[in-house]
Amino acid sequence: MNFSLHGRALLLALLLTSGAAFAADGAPETTPAATTSAQPVQRPGHAGIASANFLATNAGFEVLAKGGNAFDAAVAVASTLSVVEPESSGIGGGFMATLHIAKGNRNVFIDARETAPMAVNPQDYLNPDGTPNRDTALKGPLSAGIPGEPAGLALLAKRYGRLPLSVSLAPAIRIARDGFKPDPRLLASIKGEQKDLERWPASAAKFLPGGQPPVAGEVWRDPDQARTWELIAAKGDAGFYHGEVAQKLVDAVRAAGGNWTLQDLANYRAKERTPITVDYQGYRIVTAPPPSSGGVAIAEILNILRGYDLAKMDPAHRVHIIVEAMRRAFRDHNDYLGDPDFVKMPLDMLLSPFYADGLRQSILPDQATPSSMLPHGPAHDPGMHTTHFSIIDKDGNMVGITSTVNYILGSTFVAKGTGVLLNDEMDDFALVPNKPNVYGLLGSKANAPVGGKRMLSSMSPSIVIGKDRSAVIGSPGGSTIITQVLEGILHFVDGQSARQIVADKRYHHQFLPDQVYVEDGVFDAATSDALRKMGYTLKPREAWGFMNVVTWDHRTNTLDAASDPRRPSGLGKVE
Ligand code: DON
Repeated sequence: MNFSLHGRALLLALLLTSGAAFAADGAPETTPAATTSAQPVQRPGHAGIASANFLATNAGFEVLAKGGNAFDAAVAVASTLSVVEPESSGIGGGFMATLHIAKGNRNVFIDARETAPMAVNPQDYLNPDGTPNRDTALKGPLSAGIPGEPAGLALLAKRYGRLPLSVSLAPAIRIARDGFKPDPRLLASIKGEQKDLERWPASAAKFLPGGQPPVAGEVWRDPDQARTWELIAAKGDAGFYHGEVAQKLVDAVRAAGGNWTLQDLANYRAKERTPITVDYQGYRIVTAPPPSSGGVAIAEILNILRGYDLAKMDPAHRVHIIVEAMRRAFRDHNDYLGDPDFVKMPLDMLLSPFYADGLRQSILPDQATPSSMLPHGPAHDPGMHTTHFSIIDKDGNMVGITSTVNYILGSTFVAKGTGVLLNDEMDDFALVPNKPNVYGLLGSKANAPVGGKRMLSSMSPSIVIGKDRSAVIGSPGGSTIITQVLEGILHFVDGQSARQIVADKRYHHQFLPDQVYVEDGVFDAATSDALRKMGYTLKPREAWGFMNVVTWDHRTNTLDAASDPRRPSGLGKVE
């Protein structure tokens, strides 16, 4: 294994400190392999769904009423979001899902992340002068990975659902065919991306009917997407990865300068993986393994935090400790993580409580640690695209799905005749060494683009399982997904309700750039002052993710579902 300098220094630190910390800590449990947990045991008898769009939440309930379980409802919610919230996720993108299956008390993770086409060529993401070409990385067919969403939903339905896809996809097909009134955010997204949508006739045909963005109150239809979902409903994932849709996708991509082949589509597989589990204050957190960096980072942060009594600290010191834990986890994100099918990662080290003990030793009690010991990267303040929804059904099945086409309206490239808006997930690879992606994230060779490889993600759909209460938590937000979900978990563990958790103000640190991003109002003046005195730079940031949370109180056997107030079209509902 090729440890970087700081990696070796940290390893040394953990070796020096682990013995003492082990004795002090007892035997903390963090294991990437555990898939079962002792809780919960009852059934709620009713269901809760929270998603970013009320049409999608209602589609989930429609499918539950037809006899579906949480996983069928998830298929309905995800496919409906593809139609009504295409700026965030959809049929041409990918997702990650964390599942708790009540029967057998099992936890499962589904990786429907996009892959690089076999002909991926790093030169395509460089200008002739060798500088990064941000256009090919983010717009048009070269920015698109092979979609995972259709294969992932088909797998979810087949292995864990009760209903055929023809039933669970019916709401999305109906809404795409009959039309709906786009919410203000979709209207604004189309307007904002109009220039790029105009570059490709099929994108303009879909999003700019009559040459203009749709206006408020107008019904908007997507018959091509309806037809593609119908083929998937009839043939399963073969309806997308083989036959007429596959041919149209490849023809459109190649005609516009991309390099997909039919083989790339035929080779795509959604994968089941073992989730990351970490125990914190009596709760078991089940979350996303690589190719997401989210679960590793969340586990690393919680392992560091468990050495402190956060509740006894004043707000500034509490934030200081959490930010220092974030900083250290994001450094490891940059250096080590990638697609587990392609790279060897020191997961045992990163998830080890001894490693966290070593990191904890390096945190100064009253002072920020500058990140400047390692290379810098410039900051970005992206808008929030990607979507997360949470479901708990009457039998106690739980599922959280974070789904994305990456940046706003993905690549803005629609494959003619399919209604499929392609993602721009290729930018989640470290396309150009030491150059940040759109979220300011740096990556190492572990996340270099290679044909067939999955690009690293921050998506962190998480299930928190406790004796008295459980929750499904997740959010969009690029690199801030990890810290927002972490904060959601900490607030839940502190006893907050779903409604409080989604409304809480947020903050974020990702190692580089070395600053704490803050939402307006997250800290009072005294806390901000104290943090500045410790050496922190606080940087206001407008864009914060849209959290959708469902909680289950086992003592009263009641559910609560809440959608982020930052997103008025969202709906959390219990029925
Ligand atoms: O997989 C990832 O980490 C990103 N493609 C997610 C993008 C996202 O959350 C966009 N929202 N700002």
